[in-house]
Amino acid sequence: MRYEVVISCALDGGYNRAPIGVHFRDRDVNLYLYEGSHTYQILKREDYFVVNVTSPYLIAQSVYDDEGNYSTIEYNSTILPYISEAYKIYVVKIVKRRFKDLRDEYGDTQLMGIQGRILLERDINNPPLTPYSRADGLIVEMAVLYSRLAIVKGEKREEIVRRMKEYFEIIKKVGDKRYIQLGERFLEEVKKYK
Ligand SMILES: Cc1cc2nc3c(=O)[nH]c(=O)nc-3n(C[C@H](O)[C@H](O)[C@H](O)COP(=O)(O)O)c2cc1C
Repeated sequence: MRYEVVISCALDGGYNRAPIGVHFRDRDVNLYLYEGSHTYQILKREDYFVVNVTSPYLIAQSVYDDEGNYSTIEYNSTILPYISEAYKIYVVKIVKRRFKDLRDEYGDTQLMGIQGRILLERDINNPPLTPYSRADGLIVEMAVLYSRLAIVKGEKREEIVRRMKEYFEIIKKVGDKRYIQLGERFLEEVKKYK
């Protein structure tokens, strides 16, 4: 099973967060990073990061920028940022990096495969027991499409925009103000490419 989490890491005192898909295997966490993101740049150099288990809303919001509340945890004299609202965190050390050239529907890029070992896990906040809202799934799907906007062109971009608008129409019906505002911010970005 692939799980969507928020990866937080630090470089030169600055904190970075990004939603990333991960696979857990025993005490290992495996993930793939596309070249071009800050997370890719940082984890090419830095060996430690934090996996944050968060709400779907925070997963979606983390794609937009690095703003938000951070707390820190120290491991072996390394200070690492994590998302203050996370339910659970894993401190991870990278044990292997593999680089692969990739040609797919989004063009040519480099992929970095990371194998990390979980060094420490900690419960941070109790997850709220709330019923499922379709706004949760849809805002995360909008975030995925938003993250692809910059790397697609022409018909593919039009298709992405069409799907983002379709999801947003449903979010307007089932989501609260926070979800609607975040959806609006994602759609604002679309205008940049017109
Ligand atoms: C739910 C979700 C899952 C994502 N999974 C990945 C992933 O596995 N690998 C990746 O490189 N980018 C993934 N992305 C895209 C990055 O989060 C996106 O490029 C982000 O802007 C990177 O932020 P940064 O520049 O601060 O690192 C995902 C986005 C979303 C919304």
